[in-house]
Amino acid sequence: MPSAAAALAPVVSAAIEEAFGPELRDADPVLRPSQHADFQANAALPLAKQLQMAPREVAQRIVAAPSVQALLDDGVCASVEISGPGFINLTLADGWLGSAVSATAADPRHGVAQQAPQRVVIDYSAPNVAKEMHVGHLRTTVVGDALARVLEHLGHTVVRQNHIGDWGTPFGMLIEHLLDVGEGSEEARLVETDPNSFYQAARAKFDADPAFAMRARARVVALQGGDGDTLRLWGELVELSKHYFNGIYSRLGVSLTDDDLAGESTYNDDLARVCDELTEAGIATVSDGALCVFLDGFTGREGKPLPLIIRKSDGGYGYGTTDLATVRRRVRDLRADRMLYVIGVTQSLHLQMVWATARRAGWLPDDIEPVHVVIGNVLGADRKILKTRSGAPLRLMALLDEAVAAARAAIDEDRPGLSEEERAALAPQVGIGAVKYADLSVAHDSEYVFDLERMVSLHGNTSRYLQYAVARTRSIFRKAGDAGDAADPAVAITEPEERALALALLDFGDVLAEVGDALEPHRLCTYLFELAQTFSVFYEQCPILTAEPPVLASRLALTGLTRDVLAEGLHLLGIETPETM
Ligand code: ARG
Repeated sequence: MPSAAAALAPVVSAAIEEAFGPELRDADPVLRPSQHADFQANAALPLAKQLQMAPREVAQRIVAAPSVQALLDDGVCASVEISGPGFINLTLADGWLGSAVSATAADPRHGVAQQAPQRVVIDYSAPNVAKEMHVGHLRTTVVGDALARVLEHLGHTVVRQNHIGDWGTPFGMLIEHLLDVGEGSEEARLVETDPNSFYQAARAKFDADPAFAMRARARVVALQGGDGDTLRLWGELVELSKHYFNGIYSRLGVSLTDDDLAGESTYNDDLARVCDELTEAGIATVSDGALCVFLDGFTGREGKPLPLIIRKSDGGYGYGTTDLATVRRRVRDLRADRMLYVIGVTQSLHLQMVWATARRAGWLPDDIEPVHVVIGNVLGADRKILKTRSGAPLRLMALLDEAVAAARAAIDEDRPGLSEEERAALAPQVGIGAVKYADLSVAHDSEYVFDLERMVSLHGNTSRYLQYAVARTRSIFRKAGDAGDAADPAVAITEPEERALALALLDFGDVLAEVGDALEPHRLCTYLFELAQTFSVFYEQCPILTAEPPVLASRLALTGLTRDVLAEGLHLLGIETPETM
């Protein structure tokens, strides 16, 4: 079942062609929601200029065309009228709207169409081994996961790639520190529980103790040389970190698994070939001992050409070389139709240079446009990047604990009637949902201030408000008992609040398609928030459980579809919906 807008737009477009000939095939009907009707088609105004006619005359011809007349004859529209300078006001017939809601309610996909399947590779999360995940990693994880869920639901094959930082010079000092504290020791296990303190301890020794620094450097050489014992110790650190990452992921309810891991080390064997191919193709040149790619349009300070360094003068490869290898791998082996890199805003230039290089090398075909899904900064109350709380370095686990505690406090205050058990069960669902929704409900590239109190509030555009709306629809069905079980109830639209709710419900499929195209989960949040508000008005104005049987059945059908769309929408955002709130 298409949305009402999707049902009307092609008809008005066809009418334009019927009225003015094939030169105007596929003209945009400029269809918008209207205050005076359900929709208005504003195409007559721009067309009037083009056709050198009065806009009202243009509108009259469109309305007289067979396609628009058929809308009236077939009972899709109750009226089509011209107003003002040439707006075409379209009011849907109550009967059409009612059957559209019935059909959508009976559709297990709630009106979401399957798209022609593509293979979409999504790079997200990507924390670093033996380091704390920061709020930036949290946000790419949450946004990337929502995109993965939405695109999968639209029918695409999603290949998740967790590009963890599991290689490079810091592993020299990390491995030496691991040996110092002892494998399996309490301190070694910090990599699992408090990675930053492990990292900081290694770093401090590296800076203070020249003998340690020398061992660390030698260890890097051994690691790069493939020394067996060194690789085993490295693997130990990676393993411990995986436990830490998976602990965070399972707490967040994120769909990433070990199968999605494709860390930097995955590409070790490709790096020499990347450099060779670029050299042979004349794309890379040696400058100051380093192998570099200079690209048109990339300049640094004072207009000096900015190189992408792919092999340092000491022979080491860099972050850019690895990312060139990701492009090759994702195009050739993972057969991506679409490639998304859900990464912080600071890495934009890096990605542009990598992709431009890959394009020149012929690794990135013209029909693939990689997308940087830019992740904006999360700020503290001081409007600086959220790095510390109460002076101590930020631990993500502790931040999640705080979110759950804030949720618990808010629930204790607002819902004193719930049992201790219920409140304890709700707190993590509300707290984690709030953290995720805060990342999702603003445009992914904009900054926002992390404010737990606002995030767990029952009021405003919050996950708790939406969770509450779902719980309310479920409670209506519990109270309705048998009346809620009617198969395929007829939906009758008479009240304006029913009409508004019906129109909103029919939009779900269009909104999800837009989220998938634009890669903007916040549009889904806005839609769900508005839907919940529209439902709330309907709930206040249109008695449900006390209505006569046919009206009862109809209003329950509207309520049931609202419940399903809200719950599905939240699920696609990765947010749980508790039975009661
Ligand atoms: N590990 C990197 C960081 O913490 C992010 C990696 C993003 N993905 C990529 N293909 N470069 O900043």
